[in-house]
Amino acid sequence: MSTAISPTAYNYKVVRQFAIMTVVWGILGMGLGVFIASQLVWPELNFGLPWTTFGRLRPLHTNLVIFAFGGCALFATSYYVVQRTCQTRLISDSLAAFTFWGWQAVIVGAVVTLPLGYTTTKEYAELEWPIAILLAIVWVTYAVVFFGTIVKRKTKHIYVGNWFYGAFILVTAMLHIVNHASLPVSLFKSYSAYAGATDAMIQWWYGHNAVGFFLTTGFLGMMYYFVPKQAERPIYSYRLSIVHFWALITLYIWAGPHHLHYTALPDWAQSLGMAMSIILLAPSWGGMINGMMTLSGAWHKLRTDPILRFLVVSLAFYGMSTFEGPMMAIKTVNSLSHYTDWTIGHVHAGALGWVAMISIGALYHMIPKLFGRAQMHSVALINTHFWLATIGTVLYIASMWVNGITQGLMWRAINDDGTLTYSFVEALQASHPGYIVRALGGAFFAAGMLFMAYNVWRTVRASDPAEAEAAAKIAVVGAH
Ligand code: HEM
Ligand code: HEM
Repeated sequence: MSTAISPTAYNYKVVRQFAIMTVVWGILGMGLGVFIASQLVWPELNFGLPWTTFGRLRPLHTNLVIFAFGGCALFATSYYVVQRTCQTRLISDSLAAFTFWGWQAVIVGAVVTLPLGYTTTKEYAELEWPIAILLAIVWVTYAVVFFGTIVKRKTKHIYVGNWFYGAFILVTAMLHIVNHASLPVSLFKSYSAYAGATDAMIQWWYGHNAVGFFLTTGFLGMMYYFVPKQAERPIYSYRLSIVHFWALITLYIWAGPHHLHYTALPDWAQSLGMAMSIILLAPSWGGMINGMMTLSGAWHKLRTDPILRFLVVSLAFYGMSTFEGPMMAIKTVNSLSHYTDWTIGHVHAGALGWVAMISIGALYHMIPKLFGRAQMHSVALINTHFWLATIGTVLYIASMWVNGITQGLMWRAINDDGTLTYSFVEALQASHPGYIVRALGGAFFAAGMLFMAYNVWRTVRASDPAEAEAAAKIAVVGAH
């Protein structure tokens, strides 16, 4: 093995920009999550104004956490990983810069239009057509930058992390463009190109695969780079990574109907969605096991390395939520869980436990390297963050399990004469303590993000531009 420093350097500027914005949007999106969670405890916080009601701020929360926080984390890490594993600079600096500014513009568009009430009403696809078109252009540019960089790679193989990022980019483009097909009637109003049950099916084909490809496959790409790097171990099984990749993407695309159980959707489609969701457990756990087993021989590092703890605990939550999901997809279980807080708990087991924790771990690994530092300003603060995030997630999901099962059982309880045993308001009153615990758990998680912001700021401030520049130099490892 010979190592030589090539005169060219990675484009770290765009990675730094996306990394910093991940922290900023994380704080805003999660802060808003705590606020809407508090509205469910104290309804006075709706302030009697249309712009500040739960109904308008909830989609802003989901857009900020998924697309702003999660999206920036995916952009930052995919640009970092693709350059380092292909040992080449991004194919175009200006196109990469366009994806950064274009993506921020889409998010600002969401921040302005959603509180004003402009919405397509399709969950996770609320943004009206002018913003949706900008999003499509930014996304296609992202695909050009990512795949263009793969094409000009200096390495023979395409590292498996890039397979996951690549699938996430391609499928997200397809989902967004198909689900957003609509007829504009004014600047901020459009009607879906689909109608009735077809519209619902297209929407949940989109919605579920937004989970499967945006919130899962992209973050698995992250996992495949940052877990082996931080553990300083090779990935447990390259073969398993390829097998579970193909199984995952083949199965996910069929599971959407589990969001439409007991609806006007044809029964066979519901059963197909249920069956595919149950089979999906296998490739999901394939990924989790591959990540976990990478730590074989390195488990002792968990005692001292809070970054590795973030990464491993995220895999544990990934395993847990991908066990829970297939169970909830079984029609009889879904008849209890649907419409209840159980779904909300499941969502956040995935969103906080998996998506946010793996992103946070990846950022803590990457940020010192981007700014030419040996490590983050304070390892103790990373540890504090880890505990706040873990305890916060557990409080969130445990309270929602209790609430969800309570609600499901109270709603279905029937007296001998066929009347309902409990009114809706009684179930709501029974949920109140759970809402308090959830808001508290959310506050823990969001507080951890503030510690992160401080730690990142101190690390960036200590950065020396010359060292940062040197860190971006491409170290070419000999091909033999
Ligand atoms: C401090 C952290 C967070 C808090 C306190 C929080 C709180 C909330 C609340 C109160 C809701 C509305 C629940 C309802 O309608 O009953 C919600 C919905 C949602 N949140 Fe969060 N959230 C947080 C972080 C996140 C993150 C990081 C993500 C994604 C990466 C996320 C994704 C979602 C999604 C997808 C929904 C909609 C769920 C559904 O429709 O079933 N949240 N959140
Ligand atoms: C094998 C994997 C998974 C399966 C089979 C699965 C299955 C399900 C099911 C059955 C529901 C409830 C649908 C309903 O009653 O309306 C659901 C909701 C949801 N799941 Fe999962 N899940 C999986 C993994 C995940 C992961 C890892 C995440 C997050 C990162 C996630 C995010 C969500 C979201 C956001 C919703 C709420 C959608 C909505 O109604 O707005 N899921 N999932």
